[in-house]
Amino acid sequence: MTTAETLRRYAAMPVPRYTSYPTAAEFTADVGPADHAAWLRRLPLQESVSLYLHVPYCRALCHYCGCHAKMAVRDHVSRTYQRALEAEIALVGGLLPGRLKVARLAWGGGTPGILGSAGLASVLGVLRQHVDFEPDMEHSIELDPRHVDAASARDLAALGVNRVSLGVQDLDPAVQREIGRIQPGELVAKAVDDLRAAGLGSINVDLIYGLPAQTVDSIRATCASVVALRPRRVAFYGYAHLPERRANQRLIDPAKLPGTAERFEQATTIAEIFQASGYVPIGIDHFAVPDDRLALAAPNGQLRRNFQGYTDDDRPSVIGFGASAVSRLPDGYAQNIADNPRYVRCIEAGGLATCRGKRLDEDDRARARIIEALMCNFRADLAALDPQHDYADELALLRPLAADGMLTIKGSRIEMTEQGRPVVRVAAAIFDSFRSQTANRFSLAV
Ligand SMILES: C[S@@+](CC[C@H](N)C(=O)[O-])C[C@H]1O[C@@H](n2cnc3c(N)ncnc32)[C@H](O)[C@@H]1O
Ligand code: SF4
Repeated sequence: MTTAETLRRYAAMPVPRYTSYPTAAEFTADVGPADHAAWLRRLPLQESVSLYLHVPYCRALCHYCGCHAKMAVRDHVSRTYQRALEAEIALVGGLLPGRLKVARLAWGGGTPGILGSAGLASVLGVLRQHVDFEPDMEHSIELDPRHVDAASARDLAALGVNRVSLGVQDLDPAVQREIGRIQPGELVAKAVDDLRAAGLGSINVDLIYGLPAQTVDSIRATCASVVALRPRRVAFYGYAHLPERRANQRLIDPAKLPGTAERFEQATTIAEIFQASGYVPIGIDHFAVPDDRLALAAPNGQLRRNFQGYTDDDRPSVIGFGASAVSRLPDGYAQNIADNPRYVRCIEAGGLATCRGKRLDEDDRARARIIEALMCNFRADLAALDPQHDYADELALLRPLAADGMLTIKGSRIEMTEQGRPVVRVAAAIFDSFRSQTANRFSLAV
C-alpha cells in the first residue's frame, strides 16, 4: 500500500474531533442542575475564568449547518431568548463563590449579532453585575459576513469586542447555491474592510471542505481569495454530513458530495496553499499568521483545545450560558438543554437548565491530558502526563500506526511523524476509553 493509500485509510476512520475529553457523546443525564450548582459554588475564586455565550438563532439556516442553530424570523424570538440568557447569568452569578475575574469572553452561535448592539450591550451589562472583566480580556464573536456593515462593526468595537470570526465556508457561486448560502467574495471583502476600519483587525475566517459541488480547483480559487483578504487566522473543517440528525442537511444532495479520496485531496490543497502563503499550521485544522498568539503558543507547547477548536486560553474553567452551552468546570462538564424553547422555559421557571454532563475522575483527567497533548503538540510523554499507568494496551494498539510510519514510539514518548499529523485523531482515539462503544457516531478523520 502506498503512503497516500495508508493515509486515506486512516483518514476514513470515524473518530471524534476531541474538542473535549470525554467527548460530548459521553455526557449523560447523571449530571443535573444540583451538580452544576455545587460545581459552580466550588470554583476557586483566585483563578480567572472564561465565559461562553451561545446565541442559537440565525435569520436563515444554511443547508450544511451542523451547529445548534434555529431560524428566528421575528425579533421577539431572539428578545425572549436574550431575557433568558440574562436570567441565567443572574442565576449563575448568585451561585458563584464571589466576583470572579473573566479573562476571555466568547459569543458563539448561531449568529450572536442577531441580538443587535443593544441586546449584546444589555447582556454584557448583566454580566458586569456579577463578574469583573480583566482589562485585557479577549472578547470574541462569531459573525456572518452577510450581516456585517460599517455601523455594526463600530458598535461591536465600542462594546469591547476585539476578535471576530467570519463564516466564509466557500466562495464558489455553484457551491454557495448547493449549500443555500449566497455571499459573493465582494461582500466578504467589504465585511473585512468594515471590521478593519472599526479597529477589529483580529479576524478569523472559517472554511469548509467536502461540500457539495466543491472540487480541488474551486477550493484553490476560494483559498486564493481568502489569502488576499489576509485574515490573521483560518480554520478549515471537513463537512460533517449527518442528515438523520440535522433536518436542514437533507436539502444537500448526497450524490454531489465529494468522496473520501477527494476530501483528502481538498484538505491537503488547503494546507498547501496557506502554508505557501506564509501561514503557520496550528494543530490539524487551523492556520495563523506567524506573529499571531496561536502561532506563538504552538511551538512553546502552550496550545490548548476547547469546544471552539484551538486556543491559547489556558484558563481551566469555562462557564457556558445559553441553550446547548457546555461548562467545563474542575469537577466535570455540564451541558444545558439544547432545545431553545425548553431552555427558555426552564430558566423562566427559576432553575438552571443543565440536562446532562460528565463527572470527571482521575483516569478521565489523565487521558484528557494525553489526548490534548497529541491534538495540540502532536506528541505526548505518557510517563510525564500520567505516572500512575503504563498504557501497555494503548502502546500495543499504536504499533501498527508506527509500522505504517504515522508515528514513532520511544519508551513512553509518542510523536506523530510529519506525514502522520493529519490523522492524529486516530492515535488520540486509542486513549479514549469510551471508543469501543462509540465507533460509528463520528465524522471522518479528515
Ligand atoms: C456557528 S458557525 C459561526 C459563524 C456564523 N454563524 C456563520 O456561519 O457565518 C461556526 C462554524 O462551524 C462550521 N460548520 C457549521 N456546520 C458545519 C458542518 N456541518 N460541518 C463542518 N463544519 C461546520 C462553519 O465553518 C461555521 O463557520
Ligand atoms: S452556518 Fe452559521 S449562519 Fe449558517 S445556519 Fe449555521 S450558524 Fe447560522
